[in-house]
Amino acid sequence: MSEALQHDIVIVGGGGAGLRAAIAVTECDPGLSVAVVSKVYPMRSHTVAAEGGAAAVIKDNDSLDEHAYDTISGSDWLADQDAVEALVQEARGELIRLEHWGCPWSREPDGHVAVRPFGGMKIERTWFAADKTGFHLLHTLFQTSLKYERIVRYDEWFVTRLVVDDGRCRGVVAIELRTGLVRLIAAKAVILCTGGAGRIFPFTTNGAIKTGDGMALAYRAGVPLKDMEFVQYHPTGLPGTGILITEAARGEGGIMLNKHGERYLKDYNLGEPLDITDPRHPQKLTMELGPRDKLSQAFVHEQEKGNTIASPFGDVVHLDIRHLGKKTIDRKLPFVRELATNYAGIDPVKEPIPVRPVVHYMMGGIHTDIDGATPLVGLYAAGECACVSVNGANRLGSNSLTEILVFGARAGHAAAQLARELPGVGSAGRTTVLQAQAKDEQDRIARDYLRKEGGDERIAAIRDDMYYAMESGAGIYRDQSSLKQTCTMLADLRERCHDIHLDDRSNCFNTELTAALELQFMLEVAETVAHSALARTESRGSHQRTDHPKRNDATFLKHSLAYRSEDAPPRIDYLDVTITKWPPGERVYGADTVQATADQS
Ligand code: FUM
Repeated sequence: MSEALQHDIVIVGGGGAGLRAAIAVTECDPGLSVAVVSKVYPMRSHTVAAEGGAAAVIKDNDSLDEHAYDTISGSDWLADQDAVEALVQEARGELIRLEHWGCPWSREPDGHVAVRPFGGMKIERTWFAADKTGFHLLHTLFQTSLKYERIVRYDEWFVTRLVVDDGRCRGVVAIELRTGLVRLIAAKAVILCTGGAGRIFPFTTNGAIKTGDGMALAYRAGVPLKDMEFVQYHPTGLPGTGILITEAARGEGGIMLNKHGERYLKDYNLGEPLDITDPRHPQKLTMELGPRDKLSQAFVHEQEKGNTIASPFGDVVHLDIRHLGKKTIDRKLPFVRELATNYAGIDPVKEPIPVRPVVHYMMGGIHTDIDGATPLVGLYAAGECACVSVNGANRLGSNSLTEILVFGARAGHAAAQLARELPGVGSAGRTTVLQAQAKDEQDRIARDYLRKEGGDERIAAIRDDMYYAMESGAGIYRDQSSLKQTCTMLADLRERCHDIHLDDRSNCFNTELTAALELQFMLEVAETVAHSALARTESRGSHQRTDHPKRNDATFLKHSLAYRSEDAPPRIDYLDVTITKWPPGERVYGADTVQATADQS
């Protein structure tokens, strides 16, 4: 084994949550040494793909309680309300801090920060940088992180295991992809910030790197995955590629049309279609700005009614922004125009954009408290891989960029606090025990992949079958029979993984090996989704059971927790939801909103 590397804190993932956490650690104690280990160069992390914006209260007609209420009702009351209160309270400070670090938020002509309406948010509070918010936000964090000498980057290192000793997480084992060397990076605390797992589905906005790595690492180390049955479909993905057409397009006044040219959302209790030629538009919220779960479900109903449009990549509906005019589109939605032109071959200034629902976000993830701490001492998580939980059964658009900042910072502070209490660097005195675990991991990779004889399974075949299992049985609508079938198929696929054969046995950037390891991560995460969904016999937010169409608070106002069992399906347990001041109520959008909001305040 190569010599162990030592840091006070290891952060896995170089996206928004990871970089914010790294900066938070050094803000807390500039003496602490931080490793940021990322399987890609940080600016290629998926945060870069975020388009529409980040939510925080800034206008006089808004309040923290309004933001909290929208988030909680949007979550179908499954979000923990103490976590939501922390999110909304710390949101504005984080976005202003980003401004000070150089983030070019779009502005009104008078210089005030501009905000746009977003889905399920009843007041405009989404800050944006045109429609490339994620790019600007990540770039700002990245360049800020460069100021700190104690932040050391391990770009293109792939973490395959957490090292746990004496009941504590004490570092990670990672492959340096350039050399193939398997190394131990020992630490006093580890923060997982690896993003979501949209890649367990075939059609997703998620980059190819979002394979649930952090979720699977924690799960294998005995930490439960929370609320995994809640998978968000975004209503407007480009057919074929799954590339996101941001909700900002509807926030700026875009409308959804079926094959008859009708604004079909009027039939789905999301309010009346407001007049898009009204000069006050888009200050008024249209039904197109309903929450994502309801819009995606409406698509399925339109499809069943025969109202969708056939395309070479499946049925679509139209997102029409032509009435906004070229000037507004080029100023506020330049990326939408670029993407539609390059990937759908249409110019949205002249034609409507074909769109369909696409897997976008996992509401569930690694079970943490509101400081990012998991039940395993020394292990923290933040961002999409974590479930704090602020998103419950359905996340509102633009809360996730805010979440990665608020909870990335919180996890960084909490981990720094822990590290300061422990002497020395790394996991002093335990290195021999930890090195043994790293050796064990190195041997596993050699035995199962690089030096393996025989095996006739191909990664792509198993991955395609996983896609089919998830899409056919655990999509927008599910039922007991579809989910049982998915669980059976996934168990079979896990068995087949034992027979994977790699053609590439080399050490330098062995992408076939990486894909094999990622596939195993994905299958474990997929199993937690399917089994948690099977066990939740109610419908809530993004989890819609056709055989149990109603929400059932008496039994299921609870988080699910999926625990790993060796060679057996996950064990599902439950945990109470934290309610502070918003008792469960009905989710109401559109015309009834004003009354419902008044009633709850
Ligand atoms: O549509 C969007 O721009 C997505 C934003 C989000 O998921 O928060």
